[in-house]
Amino acid sequence: MGPVTSSWTSFGGDLHLDLTERRAAGAGLRAALEDALREAVQDGRLAPGTRLPSSRALGEDLGIARNTVVEAYGQLTAEGWLDSRQGSGTTVARRAVPEPPAPARRAGTRTMPQRQAARHDLTSGRPDISLFPRTAWLAAARRALATAPHEALDYGSPLGRIELRQALTHYLARVRGVRTDPDHLLICTGVTQGLGLLCAALRNRGARTLAVEEYGLPPQHAVVRAAGLTTTPLPLDEDGALVDRLDTRPGAVLLTPAHQYPTGAPLSADRRAEAVRWAREQDRYVIEDDYDGEFRYDRQPLGAMQALDPERVVYAGTAAKSLAPGLRLAWLALPDALVEPVARLKVLADTMSPVLDQLTLAELITSGTYDRHVRRCRLHYRRRRDQLIAALAEHAPHVRVTGIAAGLHAVLQLPPGSTPEPELLARAQAAGLSLNGLAWHLAAPTDADAPPALVIGYATPPDHAFPAALQALCELLRRA
Ligand SMILES: Cc1ncc(COP(=O)(O)O)c(C=O)c1O
Repeated sequence: MGPVTSSWTSFGGDLHLDLTERRAAGAGLRAALEDALREAVQDGRLAPGTRLPSSRALGEDLGIARNTVVEAYGQLTAEGWLDSRQGSGTTVARRAVPEPPAPARRAGTRTMPQRQAARHDLTSGRPDISLFPRTAWLAAARRALATAPHEALDYGSPLGRIELRQALTHYLARVRGVRTDPDHLLICTGVTQGLGLLCAALRNRGARTLAVEEYGLPPQHAVVRAAGLTTTPLPLDEDGALVDRLDTRPGAVLLTPAHQYPTGAPLSADRRAEAVRWAREQDRYVIEDDYDGEFRYDRQPLGAMQALDPERVVYAGTAAKSLAPGLRLAWLALPDALVEPVARLKVLADTMSPVLDQLTLAELITSGTYDRHVRRCRLHYRRRRDQLIAALAEHAPHVRVTGIAAGLHAVLQLPPGSTPEPELLARAQAAGLSLNGLAWHLAAPTDADAPPALVIGYATPPDHAFPAALQALCELLRRA
């Protein structure tokens, strides 16, 4: 779109900023405005250099307080999306904005890349859903329903069904070393919901900022902001996040210690201890997103960081990778002080999570079927990973593959001077390949001129489609 000047009279109309939907989804005014503006910058509707209206004009236009606009501009300036200079107003930052890898999103949808149209789907974040154990799930559902007491179908505890909390207590202790009990576990509809509830609880106890890893999952960042917290990124290196940069401002830090998402490094033992020390000294929390902790290939799984201090580390786990994202089943192991505040927010959100799937998962875990399924998936994904590595070694030896000891995705780093990332993504799209660039995962834009890198979800395609997807990927990289 053309330059937008301060003579705007109908800002909302010109930009199609839809605060209404965001407000209806529970976002505060400031968070809704920030989110709408950020999205407009990210998807290019607000081009670099575009001058934004004054806070007073925009406030009047949208019928909101000027201060709300000042705060939203301030946050987006801090994140690097906007430039604010005394005397010359606020403009969209003049630096490359990561291109979305696929066609523009529909307004109001979750900030997820589109996947439907692509012939080859190598986006990260999903398992091979053709592996879902349909027969075992049906059998477990039948057994669970046949034996459930009538009261199981009534309104119940916001923490979730006791059967699942008991099963998870034992499972998580055995497999991930988590130290919890059924009274400290809360079942939620995804880590996404759990994170939103946690952020809202932290905000209620005075937090205003959440520290996040500099690369992460943009939809999670949106959830944090919708709960009223700002994000402050921590740099990463091969030992994970630089947690020694944590100061007094964040109310908590969100980490992916077992397998940094998306770069793949595990958080070193020293840094785990340091983050816990920070949380104790500052009366803060660590949120451990253990999204793919069961999938480690080359050595024993790293235990959960939560075991270092269950009163300072919130453990978040999910069935999204081990079973299917569509189940919307996840769990939080909470410190004592957070159980009641988070449970209260869960009641406000949706009373409690649906019971039948909880009972089924409990049955699947206690019968040992879940363990067998995870073992089978681990072998399957390990084979996939090895196929990816072999194909790249043969057809694209200039590409460095990292983050492959665990999980369901890898990062492919191209040498300096290769085709720039936005161009590479455009070519991928033209070739029917759906994937994400590393820059899409940035928590805030950076001036650093990083060589192009791709995040490849090698679990995503079903078996029959994987060889063709690999071939298309290698062809793309060969020409890069
Ligand atoms: C880093 C990370 N955390 C958590 C999740 C799972 O989120 P949910 O349980 O809401 O599906 C994912 C799934 O893609 C992820 O990539």
